[in-house]
Amino acid sequence: MRSPVDGLDAPAQVLVTGASSGIGLAMVEALLDNQAVAGICAVSRHACASPELAALARLHGPRLHRIDADLATDAGIDAVAVGVRSVTGVLHLAVNCAGVLHDDAVQPEKSLATLDRAAFQQVFALNAFAPILLVRALLPLLDARSRCVVASLSARVGSIGDNRLGGWYAYRASKAAQNQLLRTLSIELHRSHPLATCVLLHPGTVDTPLSAPFQSRVPANALFTPARAARQLLDVIAGLQPRDSGRFIAWDGRDVPW
Ligand SMILES: NC(=O)c1ccc[n+]([C@@H]2O[C@H](COP(=O)([O-])OP(=O)(O)OC[C@H]3O[C@@H](n4cnc5c(N)ncnc54)[C@H](OP(=O)(O)O)[C@@H]3O)[C@@H](O)[C@H]2O)c1
Repeated sequence: MRSPVDGLDAPAQVLVTGASSGIGLAMVEALLDNQAVAGICAVSRHACASPELAALARLHGPRLHRIDADLATDAGIDAVAVGVRSVTGVLHLAVNCAGVLHDDAVQPEKSLATLDRAAFQQVFALNAFAPILLVRALLPLLDARSRCVVASLSARVGSIGDNRLGGWYAYRASKAAQNQLLRTLSIELHRSHPLATCVLLHPGTVDTPLSAPFQSRVPANALFTPARAARQLLDVIAGLQPRDSGRFIAWDGRDVPW
């Protein structure tokens, strides 16, 4: 079976965050079906309580290791590093699918009047700061002499050049901040880990709890199932070369404007 990381000649050790729902869960399922994947660390706040991940653990045994961690906190980032180290000394692929658009405390803003400092802080903590702090914590697990991929889910609405509709201030800005942070990382990583690839990915519009309240104007043929989205993103990831590092790539392989 094709390795999830091009040019990797060993069974892949993988980390997926946001693994309890939507695209992350579908990624875990697809990767577990790939015999070129040795093991997966699946992270979310409630990974161990997720019935879907429990069912996959029953099916795939020790290939799946679940880690509960709130990535919006330092303790959560540390818990991921400790949890991953307990099962592997090396990571070949890390896919960050954790993200927030809305929850009990946060709704995407329609206008300036509804902006809120606490909401900004919550959204930025997960969407902007967690991905880069996670890589900082996991860096010792990336082998400088072998192929590895760090991919983080962004969103086209985080594109500044493509922003024609307005609204969704915190979500848009947090994704734009993530893009800049990981683009900057890609330059530093190239010096220390020349075989590494670090990219931002836009999954398209995907039928998940995150998009559910906002799907009414999305044509049916433009709304992907999580399984299809995961497949498409894993295809993009499997085709990446180190020269692609620093790109912001959509599900169809095309660049998204910054
Ligand atoms: N769906 C779309 O149409 C779409 C479009 C563009 C971009 N995206 C991006 O794709 C990514 C995945 O989205 P999705 O649609 O799959 O979302 P989702 O179904 O809502 O899943 C989000 C995941 O993030 C985890 N999570 C939330 N807060 C967390 C925290 N503080 N710490 C750790 N994990 C946390 C959740 O698990 P717990 O609750 O267990 O923590 C869940 O597993 C996001 O970055 C999103 O912005 C999605």
